[in-house]
Amino acid sequence: MPNKLRAAITGVNGWVPEDRLTNADLEKMVDTSDEWITTRTGIKERRILRTPGWATSDMAAEAVRGLMLKTGLLPGEIDLLIVATVTADMVFPDTANTVCDKIGAKNAFGFDINAACSGFLYALATGAQFIVAGAYEKVVVVGADMMSSITDYTDRNTCVLFGDGAGAVLLEGRRDGTGIQDFVLRGDGAGREFLHMKSGGSLRPPSHETVDRREHYVYQEGKRVFKFAVEGMVSTAQEVLRRNHKTVDEVDWVVPHQANMRIITSVAEHLGVPMEKVMVNIHKYGNTTAATIPLCLWEYEDRLKKGDNLILTAFGGGFTWGSIYLKWAY
Ligand code: UT7
Repeated sequence: MPNKLRAAITGVNGWVPEDRLTNADLEKMVDTSDEWITTRTGIKERRILRTPGWATSDMAAEAVRGLMLKTGLLPGEIDLLIVATVTADMVFPDTANTVCDKIGAKNAFGFDINAACSGFLYALATGAQFIVAGAYEKVVVVGADMMSSITDYTDRNTCVLFGDGAGAVLLEGRRDGTGIQDFVLRGDGAGREFLHMKSGGSLRPPSHETVDRREHYVYQEGKRVFKFAVEGMVSTAQEVLRRNHKTVDEVDWVVPHQANMRIITSVAEHLGVPMEKVMVNIHKYGNTTAATIPLCLWEYEDRLKKGDNLILTAFGGGFTWGSIYLKWAY
């Protein structure tokens, strides 16, 4: 239905800090090796935010400033700004309102979405509803995480995985058949056992004891999460394709959450999509949680064509997972 109003991504931008944490650096910090990290995860280096006084909102603001430059969007034109993150600047207020302040988006309101590595997909689907309902015309969706602020650099199981970064997209209405066609989003709170931060919330407020027990960092049972991740990404991608009568051959790009290269290749294999059609930048940035998918779109933007069929797919803490099917708009 070409005339149907859909929410389309009409611009994308990313921002990553300059400082690199390489596998060689990590070899000096914990008992690990470049060989282990490369073969088990595909990661070679990650970016770490070390600018004094900077936090997630600053990376998000940089990503949005660049987006405005690229698209000609003025701060006062933004109606709504959503930030997907698990590393909010503060427990409250939300990061989105801080970003609106920093970029001068005086007419916007904003809120955060906490859905870990699926946060960008949840936020994109949410932002799209405001466009499709006719409520707003310009919605900015950001995925931003400063994972270094919740990573235990004495724990080799997790510290090799994560990095910092932010990606932002502009959503606008289109009636030419492009834009978000459909989404399948899922959640299962029983999965919280395997991937969480133990303390700092209302369940276990911060105390000397929680700090001494190193409970303010990501805790992950990697093997368990790995299995669920592949299953969740594959099943929702297949469901959204089936529902829209699309075959895998019609998919131009798969944009997977970048948690582990082995998860990415396994998802591609199960779907039957060749790796040439799969966006990958995990080797450079590691797992930036909510930022991985917009950072991929940003880096592959010049290879995308109007009308390309994209499947965005992610899995993360919660558990949360899902897939979005969209037609690229430009
Ligand atoms: O983004 C949100 C969702 N998250 C994910 O999707 C992540 C999913 N999980 C994973 O990506 C992988 O499970 C990891 C990369 C986290 C771990 O890989 P694995 O192949 O599942 O390794 P493992 O946890 O089974 O550990 C294998 C061995 C262990 O040694 P033993 O017990 O066999 O002697 C670990 O202690 O590797 C050891 N190990 C390491 N060795 C060197 C764990 N981390 C390291 C390390 N360097 N950094």
